[in-house]
Amino acid sequence: KTINVVLSGGVGSRLWPLSRKSCPKQYLPIFEGQTLFQKTIARNRALCDSLMVVGNKANYELSRKDLKGLALDGFIEIIEACPRNTAAAIAFAAFSANPEDILFVTPSDHLIDAEDNYLESVKRAIELAQNGYIVTFGLKPTRPETGFGYIESKGEDVLSFREKPNLDTAEKFLKKGNFLWNSGMFCFKAGVFLEELKRYEPIVWEKSKEVIQASKEGFLDYDLSMEIPSTSVDYAVMERTEKIKVVPSSFNWSDMGSFESIFEYMTDHGYHADENGNMVIGTELYTEFVGMRDTMLIQTKDAILVLQKEKAQDVKKVFEKLEKEK
Ligand code: GDD
Ligand code: MG
Repeated sequence: KTINVVLSGGVGSRLWPLSRKSCPKQYLPIFEGQTLFQKTIARNRALCDSLMVVGNKANYELSRKDLKGLALDGFIEIIEACPRNTAAAIAFAAFSANPEDILFVTPSDHLIDAEDNYLESVKRAIELAQNGYIVTFGLKPTRPETGFGYIESKGEDVLSFREKPNLDTAEKFLKKGNFLWNSGMFCFKAGVFLEELKRYEPIVWEKSKEVIQASKEGFLDYDLSMEIPSTSVDYAVMERTEKIKVVPSSFNWSDMGSFESIFEYMTDHGYHADENGNMVIGTELYTEFVGMRDTMLIQTKDAILVLQKEKAQDVKKVFEKLEKEK
């Protein structure tokens, strides 16, 4: 059985003020009237036998709303009491499945064209997962992005996996040419993932297991969850496992993770920056940039962000500061 595990626990802090705690970016109906969460589920339905959503308490109503009207056979929902990062979120899914089930783990906040190459890549990943591998999807990098993982590869073999390198290192990877971006989607047997997690992060494994055993109708306990070390699956498993493979892919993929990706997406879709690379989002007001380069102005009804594009990763700090002040 193949299960699409949709991770929807992130808050989208790097997209403040578009993305808010009360409505994280994957629930904004801004893509032809659909949300990224809905698009994710629609894209993978034909490829998988069932669906599991790992989200958190705060997103629960938003997920429900998006799922309404879909006939979902054997649907499983796991509702976190607090975000414990992706190693734990995936462990929750794996402990809720059978060891032989194939999990196709997908973020809920990416924009992907589900054309031929996507279908082909996922099918290949499922085949490799059936043979006991932990499968990643590699995309050709277009800029030295520091918010992604990089996969050093030779065909489907992975020589190394490097999560979020610094700018110098990312530039070196791009020059070398055999590094691919990690798409953030993974495919493996639940049992294989758990074995590897147990080997490399035994505490995450053990505590996640306890949390699932104590869960009530999908709801996870807060105090127990807080005992799980917060680490991402990339550091916990992908950088270390020897069972890793990559499916080099060429589908149209965009992580709507930071304003740099939004900028790239907008320019690819006919929405242009001025001659100095400045762009406005979210306002109808006539705007001029004088003497500025690569700046973005983002306006919502109650906030304005003025951003130097290369600092896009730092928007997270604003979000965190505002959360603290609340
Ligand atoms: N349920 C749950 N709980 N989901 C979570 C949690 C959590 O605690 N934390 C994050 N997620 C979800 C996010 O909503 C997102 O859909 C996905 O897991 C990945 O988390 P991100 O926080 O967006 O990771 P990232 O973008 O920094 O890095 C990952 O994705 C990149 C590509 O977009 C890594 O896998 C990188 O290697 C990769 O390049
Ligand atoms: Mg992301």
